[in-house]
This record gives sequence, C-alpha cells and structure tokens, in this order.
Amino acid sequence: MTRTQVAIVGAGPAGLTLGRLLESAGIESVILEARSRAYCEARIRAGVLEQGTVDLLRDAGVGERIDREGLVHHGISLQFDGERHRIPLSDLTGGRSIVVYGQTEVVKDLIAARLESGLPLLFEAEGVSIHDLEAGRPRIRYRHEGAEHELECDVIAGCDGFHGCCRASIPPGVLREFSREYPYGWLGILAEVAPSIDELVYARHERGFALLSLRSPTLSRYYLQCAPDENLDEWPDDRIWEELQLRTGVAGWTLVEGPIVEKGVTGMRSYVCEPMRHGRLFLAGDAAHIVPPTGAKGLNLALHDVRVLAEALIRFNERGDETLLDAYSTECLRRVWRCEHFSWWMTTMLHLPPGADPFELRLQSAQLRYVTTSPAQARALAENYVGLEAV
Ligand code: FAD
Ligand code: DHB
Repeated sequence: MTRTQVAIVGAGPAGLTLGRLLESAGIESVILEARSRAYCEARIRAGVLEQGTVDLLRDAGVGERIDREGLVHHGISLQFDGERHRIPLSDLTGGRSIVVYGQTEVVKDLIAARLESGLPLLFEAEGVSIHDLEAGRPRIRYRHEGAEHELECDVIAGCDGFHGCCRASIPPGVLREFSREYPYGWLGILAEVAPSIDELVYARHERGFALLSLRSPTLSRYYLQCAPDENLDEWPDDRIWEELQLRTGVAGWTLVEGPIVEKGVTGMRSYVCEPMRHGRLFLAGDAAHIVPPTGAKGLNLALHDVRVLAEALIRFNERGDETLLDAYSTECLRRVWRCEHFSWWMTTMLHLPPGADPFELRLQSAQLRYVTTSPAQARALAENYVGLEAV
C-alpha cells in the first residue's frame, strides 16, 4: 500500500497536465496509465490549440517547443459551392489566434517533463479499479510489473478518456448523461508532403465533408467524412487522394499528393455527464464529455477542466477549503455546454446529412452564406473557434 495526495488515472493531455500543475504547487500525485509510453506518444489526434491552452502549457513549463515549432494561424476558410471564404479569426477577436501543434507532441513534451522531475508515472498499469469513493480516503487497486498494488489518496482525478474505468465506477443513478451519435465518421490521413494550404480549410461538398489541416511544413493532415464504421481496406491511397481532390478542389489551386504514412477512422459523438464529480472522484476531459471533432474543441476543453481542478486542489491543499472543489463541476460544465453547442453546430453545418435531405442541405447553404457574409456571424464563429475567454 502506498499513499499520495492526488491519484491521476490516465496519461493523456488532461492527466499529464494536471500532474504538472500540481507539481508546481508542491502537491504530490501518482499517474496510472493503462497503455505503454510508445502507444501514448504515437496516438494521432488533435492539432488545434487555443491561445488559452498554449498559455496554460507555458505556465506548466512545457511551452518551449510549442513556441518554437507550433504554427500560429490567424484565419481559417469555409468552403462551399466551389468557393473558399476566409474567416479572419484574429481580426474578428481582437488579435487572438490558434496554434497548430499535434497532440502527440503535447503528450511527448508532458511525459518528458514528468519523467525529468522523477515523479511517478506508471505505464501499463493493469486492472485499475476504484474503491471507497464516498469515504475520505479513496483507494485504487492495480497491477504493475506482475505485482498487485493499492494506492490510497485524498482525491482521484479521472482523466482516463471516454472508455476509461473512472466514470464507469460511479454507481448507477448518480450521473445524468446526455448524448448524440452522428451518422458519419472521419477518415483521417497523415501524408509526408508539404501542406497545400497555409490555413485550415473546412469544406462542405455534396460528396461529404473534407478538412485540410497540417502538422508541420512537411506533414499534411487531411480528413474525409465517411461512414462511422467505414472499412479502411476499401480505401487504398489512390481512392483517398481522388476523393480529397473532388471535395476540396477550387479553381486556381492544386492539392499536392504524397505518401500516406497513417490512416484511421473515428466515429463522432456528443456526450456529457453531470455532475463531473462523485464523492472524492473528479472527472476531467474526455472521461466526462466528448464533442465531435469539427470545432477542434476536445483537447482544449480537457485542459480547461484540469486548470479549474488544479486551482481547486491547490486551495483545498493550502487551507482545507473545499469551496472550489464543490464548484468544480458547475464551473466546467458552463464551458463544456458552450463547446458542445459550437461543435454540434459546426458539424451539422458542414457534413452531408443522411439521405442528403434537401431541406437540410438548403439550411446548410443558407447558414454558410450567412456566416461568410455577416461580420456578426463570422465573429460568433471566430470567438468560439479561438476559445471564449469568459463563458
Ligand atoms: P485521452 O487523450 O483519451 O487520454 C486518456 C488516457 O487514459 C489514455 O492515455 C488512455 O490510455 C488512459 N486510460 C484509459 N482507460 C484507462 C484505465 N482503465 N486505466 C488507466 N489508464 C486508462 N481536440 C481538439 O481540441 N482539437 C482538435 O483538433 C481535435 N481533433 C481530434 C481529431 C481526432 C481524429 C480525434 C479522435 C480527436 C480529436 N480531438 C481534438 C479530441 C482530443 O483528442 C481529445 O479530446 C483529447 O485526447 C482528450 O484528452 P484526455 O486526456 O481527456 O483523454
Ligand atoms: C484537426 C482536427 C480537428 O478536429 C479540427 O477541427 C481541425 C484540425 C487536426 O487534426 O489537424
């Protein structure tokens, strides 16, 4: 049996950042991760960081490489009816911007910082189970390197993603759950070719949505709307490029093709559980909420949660004052629901609806035209996309 102040389950962006923020405040933590370090560092996911997210990572002492290698973007484009319309994010938001920097790199930076500090981060922790949540001293049991362990703590931070064990260990009837499944998914590729765009392009097309993004001056990240259970075997590289060409083509611009080095399919859902706490267990990030990726909000929301949680834990540690811990869920859920709405709105505005319902298609066109012609509507999109300061 060992003891710590905060037991963190999951070494994704949420768990690792929380560990780092607690470390700066002198609060002990142990991070338990089911997967290997190599797996965590290779999982390709998000790419767009809000300015507030970058500021938080800088405060946590892991901003150095982001500042060096991250690509600052001041606009995005919406494409429909064969034309691109730029949304000048910075002009519309008093100079705010986004940074394109892969989640894989954020995770690598955070893992390196934790290991350099010599603090406990246990990869391949198996059979993690949660006990005595309603008591003052919750416990976690797990297996590591063939031995059974028990960890006693003051608080458990459930940062173990959507399929983790923390939310699942809350007794039935405690949480209210809200969700929506979408009848489409994304086929994402990483290609070793200079991006053909300087800024992200979100394209609505009658063959389905496409997104042009990037990771670096030599790596392109592109996505295609597909079925939620799309079979990748049916997507040889040639077919992917052909489809990207069809959906993103505009006059006077060329999509340059190159070797595809990674392919994957992700389903899309919206999900929120309320409250984000049960007894001494606090859920953060994807463990408590999921957004469809179209608004680029998931990682940013996860880091907002842990910023609020870290502040609450610091207050609790310094003064034994639980006021901020009690306010944690309500405080986070305000931003969660704002981002749920924005992500749902971006998703339904840009994806081909099932059966290509003609009424919905006309509504999408009307909305896209409005957003790209009305400064008020464009500003609404921009301020959500770069991240609202107050919600
Ligand atoms: P996760 O990253 O899921 O981390 C949870 C960790 O817990 C994992 O390492 C997992 O292995 C571990 N774990 C799970 N179960 C257990 C267990 N039982 N015991 C111990 N450990 C466990 N977000 C954005 O903000 N911008 C984007 O541009 C964006 N694009 C995306 C594109 C795609 C294709 C996808 C799939 C997601 C995208 N997201 C984006 C969402 C973003 O990736 C997630 O919201 C983010 O990873 C959430 O971080 P997290 O730490 O909460 O959870
Ligand atoms: C990326 C992912 C997103 O979900 C998004 O909205 C924009 C960019 C990306 O992986 O680059």
